[in-house]
Amino acid sequence: MSRVSFEDVLKAHERIVSHIHKTPVFTSSSVDKIAGRKVYFKAECLQKTGSFKARGALNAILALKDTGNSSAGVVTHSSGNHGQAVAWASRLAGLPCSVIVPQDTTAVKQDAIKGYGANLILCESSPTSRVETCNKVAKETGQVIIPPYDKYEVIAGQGTIAVELLTQVPDLDAIIVPISGGGLISGIATAAKEIKPNIRVYAVEPVGKDLEHCLREGKRLWPNPPTFLDTIADGIKTQQVGQLTWPIVLSLVEKDVFTVSDEQIKDAMKFAFQRLKLVIEAAAGAAMAAVISQKMKQLDPAIAKVGVILCGGNVDICNLPWK
Ligand SMILES: Cc1ncc(COP(=O)(O)O)c(C=O)c1O
Repeated sequence: MSRVSFEDVLKAHERIVSHIHKTPVFTSSSVDKIAGRKVYFKAECLQKTGSFKARGALNAILALKDTGNSSAGVVTHSSGNHGQAVAWASRLAGLPCSVIVPQDTTAVKQDAIKGYGANLILCESSPTSRVETCNKVAKETGQVIIPPYDKYEVIAGQGTIAVELLTQVPDLDAIIVPISGGGLISGIATAAKEIKPNIRVYAVEPVGKDLEHCLREGKRLWPNPPTFLDTIADGIKTQQVGQLTWPIVLSLVEKDVFTVSDEQIKDAMKFAFQRLKLVIEAAAGAAMAAVISQKMKQLDPAIAKVGVILCGGNVDICNLPWK
């Protein structure tokens, strides 16, 4: 695949649909009041493996299996959720799997990866160490790398969320999506803009990513080597958007970005636990934080219906980010 199209997303949907959950959409009249518009939460925290990552990982692995070049299995690097998803999907496909995670990855995510039968390998806590360790394991084992976002099959798999969501709520005006490497938002934007060309897709980032600045300048302004952001949202701590995802994000995503602090994320997680009765992790808390932020109230009043991706629920309930 040399680019990702809506047809690729539809093909991905066909490939994975019998193995994933069609996640429910939740609403709350108190949230609608705060946001000043109708809000529809797509609960990917209830997806297989506890995050949307099951979609992209499974699509990439089933596509690889179709090529007949997968006998050595697959390897990936991840902050946890993609690792769990690749471990789950490779078990489903009957392939061996190695997962590299930074040593400070939460125990709940490490245990889940091992629980799906993958070989868990720890690395230093930096994007460079993750990639280098993954490349080394791939070379030694012959396993095929399934990157967390910079792979078109992964992006197409994540895009299946938009296909589902716009069937569940066809008249959405906007979708709000947490961003890290950008696979989730690229897939969603690719599909959503095709289904509904006027829909607006907004990114939510932790403080320090500075995506809005990059989008407005049309340039990758991030410092190298790549670093992780200092945030409680462990699923979205990669500062730089990927190389394949960047052009998609630049062309399809709104320049206006929601930037949220750890304090806002904590408050939003508590809000989701209490009001929606949904266990969400901090990355999804970022999306909830955007919904209840001042910026949301000030958004174009023409945006009457907003979809929000509650991207994951893999939170360590014995170590919640508040006392
Ligand atoms: C829960 C959760 N939400 C959002 C993201 C962001 O996805 P992407 O890297 O495709 O932007 C991730 C990535 O790991 C995640 O785990």
